[in-house]
Amino acid sequence: MKTAIKTVRGVHDILPDDSTTWQYLEATARRVFAQYGYRELRTPLFEKSELFARAVGATSDIVEKEMYTFADRGGDSLSLRPEGTASVVRSFINNSMHRLLPWRVFYIGPMFRYERPQKGRQRQFHQIGCELFGPEGPLADAELMAMVMGFFRTAGVAGNLSLEINSLGCSECRGPYREKLLVFLNKKMESLCENCQGRMERNPLRVLDCKKPGCGEVAQQAPHMGDNLCTVCDEHFSGLKSHLTLLQQPFQVNPLLVRGLDYYNRTAFEVTTDALGAQNAVAAGGRYDGLVAEMGGQSTPAIGFAMGLERLVLLLEQGRVVQPEPTVYVVVLGDVQGAESAGLLLAEQLRAAGMVVEMNLTGGSMKTQMKRAGRSKAKFTAIIGGREMLDSSVVIKNMANGEQSTVTTAEAVVHLSSHIDQRKG
Ligand code: HAM
Repeated sequence: MKTAIKTVRGVHDILPDDSTTWQYLEATARRVFAQYGYRELRTPLFEKSELFARAVGATSDIVEKEMYTFADRGGDSLSLRPEGTASVVRSFINNSMHRLLPWRVFYIGPMFRYERPQKGRQRQFHQIGCELFGPEGPLADAELMAMVMGFFRTAGVAGNLSLEINSLGCSECRGPYREKLLVFLNKKMESLCENCQGRMERNPLRVLDCKKPGCGEVAQQAPHMGDNLCTVCDEHFSGLKSHLTLLQQPFQVNPLLVRGLDYYNRTAFEVTTDALGAQNAVAAGGRYDGLVAEMGGQSTPAIGFAMGLERLVLLLEQGRVVQPEPTVYVVVLGDVQGAESAGLLLAEQLRAAGMVVEMNLTGGSMKTQMKRAGRSKAKFTAIIGGREMLDSSVVIKNMANGEQSTVTTAEAVVHLSSHIDQRKG
């Protein structure tokens, strides 16, 4: 036997039994986001590496350590997308969408990060995300968060989720705050982990969300951005909080919430769960009012978020998703002249009438085929054997109560049509 090739570490197949769940989540997201006016944008899976370095930040962990970067045959440095926002901003600029504000888009698809795989963390993972370009005020932030939380409720993943918010300030107030934080952290240097010591000068805010116990204690005592906002940022954040209160959307202000991507300003938020251990963020996002201009476009405020599908799948209530089952299983006795052809034709006619039909394609005795019909969970079995071939009839068996009737092919289509599975996936 030859050795079989396995998938790359941190990369998984989504098998048919599971993909039903994925489809359900995706369909629910499409439905909910459409209610808010979002339409789908599909961007390429790979882009010039420079796009991510400029948008996400050349010194961010994602760009420094986690990107799948390669030179193509022409020598250009390309990267598999580690997230969606950079590509959406590029597309916004390339297609001059500033003429059509507000621009609301969503995307669904795989992202790639070279991270240490664990429960809820893969190297190829999937995000559903939304980006809104145009509005600057907190009304947009509140609407977006209401949409995210509404999606979780509709999808059935809302149990034990909390919405955490923070403000990261703007170019006015973040600089002075950063200096203040640096002065404080310099005095606590020996309590910080090696990683934080290393990145302190470049990105001191990341110390605030370091999970190491020593850093955690320092972060608690550190000056917080929320207490150092300029008046405009402070009013923006207060506006958001009052809109969320009006919507009766519970939230917690988490002064230690800082994001791992460099483009954020003002509002940052995460939706967390206590059910997934360390990988507790199910969705995350925030404002990035400066990014479009930074990337060469006409200055446009924007806000967005993305949620991790793998994590949502783990949180989905048991029994939420119905596995599709055939309406009819067609049994044909292969040793009877013409039965297989008659079955093939009948199956097509039933499908044309809208039914989900599985036909036995691999021969076998009546007993074997009836066993397969049972396993398929079809509601009805249509049987064509010797007797049926003689008078062009078909036996219909109701699998729930065992009742059988002999009908003509035309009657079979009419009779079974009334039992078409009405459930939506
Ligand atoms: P992010 O926090 O890097 O933000 O990722 C968003 C979500 O994607 C996370 O909360 C998590 O659910 C999921 N996720 C991230 N990495 C992994 C992984 N390795 N395995 C499984 N799930 C993962 C962004 O990507 C931003 N682009 C979000 C955004 C959009 N901000 C504004 N607009």
